[in-house]
Amino acid sequence: MNQTSIELQYAQHIETLQHRAREALGREAIDGLIIHSGQLHYQFLDDNPYPFKVSPQFKAWLPVVDNPNSWLIVDGVNKPKLIFYLPVDFWHKVPKVPDAFWTDFFDITYLKKANMVEKHLPYDLSKYAYLGEHVEVAKALGISLVNPDRVMHYMHYHRAFKTDYELNCMREANKIAVRSHKAAERAFLSGKSEFEINQAYLSAAVQSEEQMPYGNIVALNENASILHYMVLDKTAPEIHRSFLIDAGASYSGYAADITRTYCAENNQFNALIVAVDSLTQQLVGKLIPGIEYVDIHKQAFVGIANILHDFKLINLSPEGILDKGIVGTFFPHGVGHMLGLQVHDVAGHVANDRGTPKPAPTEHPFLRCTRTVEARQVFTIEPGVYFIDSLLAELKSTENSKYINWDVVDEFRPYGGVRIEDNVIVHAEKNENMSRDNW
Ligand code: GLY
Ligand code: MN
Ligand code: MN
Repeated sequence: MNQTSIELQYAQHIETLQHRAREALGREAIDGLIIHSGQLHYQFLDDNPYPFKVSPQFKAWLPVVDNPNSWLIVDGVNKPKLIFYLPVDFWHKVPKVPDAFWTDFFDITYLKKANMVEKHLPYDLSKYAYLGEHVEVAKALGISLVNPDRVMHYMHYHRAFKTDYELNCMREANKIAVRSHKAAERAFLSGKSEFEINQAYLSAAVQSEEQMPYGNIVALNENASILHYMVLDKTAPEIHRSFLIDAGASYSGYAADITRTYCAENNQFNALIVAVDSLTQQLVGKLIPGIEYVDIHKQAFVGIANILHDFKLINLSPEGILDKGIVGTFFPHGVGHMLGLQVHDVAGHVANDRGTPKPAPTEHPFLRCTRTVEARQVFTIEPGVYFIDSLLAELKSTENSKYINWDVVDEFRPYGGVRIEDNVIVHAEKNENMSRDNW
């Protein structure tokens, strides 16, 4: 995209955020928001900080993700004021004076010392709210209103509707993730360890581990059964049977979150991958404005029940598998979530912008999103089938054990499991599967 169209899109993005700020301020009856980028956290008894993670409230406004002690002051009407931290520091690299497509959209002042911010803030702070993580900093500055509910609910709910600028950032994040997934697949096929595969992924992304939107899951063989496996074993296993990789990328603060699963041979496990892949695509097709995301999750359950039946893992009809409540043993997580500035984006469980709770159904407690699907929202769709020893042991101890073909289950166990995850933009007329479009 050329510079002019980025600027145009960004101008609309800022206009949308200004409009949202005005609405949120009106609801809280205050004059403005003071949005903190965050500050470094130090390790216990140490002078080394943890990696800096910028506040999502801050990076929603501008693509600055690596500068602690910076601030935004917005009132929804005037040009937002950016207080950009620019210390004199010979120990560390100091940020450059910003000069990019976004800089003209802010009145920028520079902050030499983190503790000198007060003089840049409005004189009367009683009508301003602090948005950020550091409540003690807000209090020390004399700001008593911190992350007020009405503002937070409004901003979080509407963050689900992405501007064109944001959709473009998410497409770019997907492009980076896709090329890196391909590098990881090649590393798997050449017999590398999980650690080496992850290195290949990061090199292709040209991003450090800390720049990833979440810890990469790089799992060979049985390890693919551990849903959040993050060990990165440095020794390659003797045989490479299967490979599950759940890894994303960041672009200007926006996340991609893609999972693929591979098999070294063309066998039943590979057929299972093909079946789950096809289910992912079917479910993506069901993301239509007006549908409840919970219904997509329920349809995923039906799809997995069909797979468990077709692969003769369970001696029951798909309806019987659903009736007996066996699906959750093989698919113990939700079908997906909203995606954006955070990998599990906010406001998945609310009914409206006042934050009325819309919790996950009791029988599906791990579902991260219960929103009604609408255009401009971005979701992941990520069904899976896993062979998890602890859940299988539990199943074995129940009445339902008699329906399970344990021999077939045991054949699959050494492969761990399958998940296929795509990132999808819902448009009014069509869906855009960013992960497939860029593959
Ligand atoms: N990578 C975490 C998830 O898929 O939700
Ligand atoms: Mn996900
Ligand atoms: Mn994922």
